[in-house]
Amino acid sequence: MAAASPFSVVFVVVISILGSTGYAQLCPNFYSKSCPKVFSTVESVVESAVSKEPRMGASLGCDGSILLDDTSSFTGEKTAGPNNNSVTGFEVVDAIKAEVEKVCPGVVSCTDILAIAARDSVVKLRGPDWDVKLGRRDSKTASLSAANSGVIPPPTANLTQLINRFAARGLSAKDMVALSGSIICWKNMIIW
Ligand SMILES: *[C@@H]1O[C@H](CO)[C@@H](O)[C@H](O)[C@H]1NC(C)=O
Repeated sequence: MAAASPFSVVFVVVISILGSTGYAQLCPNFYSKSCPKVFSTVESVVESAVSKEPRMGASLGCDGSILLDDTSSFTGEKTAGPNNNSVTGFEVVDAIKAEVEKVCPGVVSCTDILAIAARDSVVKLRGPDWDVKLGRRDSKTASLSAANSGVIPPPTANLTQLINRFAARGLSAKDMVALSGSIICWKNMIIW
C-alpha cells in the first residue's frame, strides 16, 4: 500500500483533531474573553482574607473535590479523617466563588479559583509570583472512602509517614519540603 493513501491521510487528520481537542491545554488567558475580571476578583477577596488572618494564606489552594458537600448520592471528603477539624478556609473560598459568580456566572471552575487563590495567597505573604495556568474542570463527585484510604497524610503524620506518602506519589522529600513550604498545605494538594 502506498504510504500516502487517502485512507492514511484521513486517519492522520482524525488523530490530529482528537489530539487537539482531547487533551485540554491549560493556559493563563483561558478566561480572558469569558471572565476578564477573574484575577482581580479573586485577588481582592484573598487580599481582604489574608490581611485579616495571615494564616488563611496557608489554607487556600487545597484540592477542589474537598469543597463538595455531602449529597444524596455521595458523602464528601470534608469529614474524612485527615481533613476533619483540620482543613480550614472554606468560607473564604465560598466568598471568592460568590464574587466570581457575580461578575461571570457559571464560567470559572472552582479548581481554577483555588489555583489562583493559592498563588495570590503566596504573593500576599511575600512569596514568589507565577502565572497560573487555567482551564481545569471541576469534579462533580467526591469520595469519603478514597479520602480515608491512606493516600492523604493526616495532620498527625510524623516525618517518616509524610516522606512515605509523598514517595508513594513519586515525589521526593525535597519535593515535599518545596511544596509544603510554598503552599503550606500538604493535605489535599492538587496532586492527591
Ligand atoms: C468530625 O468532627 C466533628 C466535630 O469535632 C465530630 O463531631 C465528628 O464526629 C467528626 N467526624 C468524623 C467522621 O470523625
